[in-house]
Amino acid sequence: MRVGRLRERLRAATSESHERLHRHPGLAAAASGAIDLSGYRALLMRLYGFHRPVDAGMGAHALLTDETPRSRLLESDLQALGVARDQQDVLPRCATLPLLTDDAQALGALYVVEGSALGGAAIARAVAPVLAPLEGDGCRFFSNDSGKRRGWPQLLVRLESLSGESQEQATIDAAVATFLAFEAWMKDWAPKTDARPFCV
Ligand code: HEM
Repeated sequence: MRVGRLRERLRAATSESHERLHRHPGLAAAASGAIDLSGYRALLMRLYGFHRPVDAGMGAHALLTDETPRSRLLESDLQALGVARDQQDVLPRCATLPLLTDDAQALGALYVVEGSALGGAAIARAVAPVLAPLEGDGCRFFSNDSGKRRGWPQLLVRLESLSGESQEQATIDAAVATFLAFEAWMKDWAPKTDARPFCV
């Protein structure tokens, strides 16, 4: 019951960011299937620049979930899209993330990255025709690893372990800060659909 209330608070505190992200040109194009292969690959490269440092920042709190970090799914998708690991390693990365100094703050960041996987299924369906020419999958990130991911239910269990208002508020503040960092990272960025930085 307490987790239900905390989740409501998390959702309410981040809903404006979430709504704004629905209108982001790159994400909206993917969600409506109005993106080509080049734009999709560029979007994943940009998302990788956020998810890899977020996952690294949560590394010290790895016991919060035993699920594969979402940046690993992006690495697999990028590989399928022709972006090799050495090319992934030199992609720009977000350097203005909130510091996650304890588990309560790390749970706030986990809420954002695992929550964003929930809406991914619809995006996976929308981009399926775009990815049809690929031999590899290319859509593990959005498809939530074909719906097998356990990160969200594990997050809800971990939220139970928070004790008291100050810890809950720390989780909410970290979730809001992570959303804002993501918005800033994606701001003014849109896939250049004619750009083909790497060949499939
Ligand atoms: C166009 C892009 C997006 C769409 C269409 C979308 C859609 C959705 C949908 C349908 C849900 C509810 C899923 C469910 O309850 O089963 C959801 C939840 C959520 N999404 Fe998104 N989303 C998008 C982008 C993002 C992004 C970029 C983030 C964060 C970086 C994000 C964070 C979240 C979170 C945290 C939740 C969980 C909310 C809660 O129930 O507590 N979403 N999204």
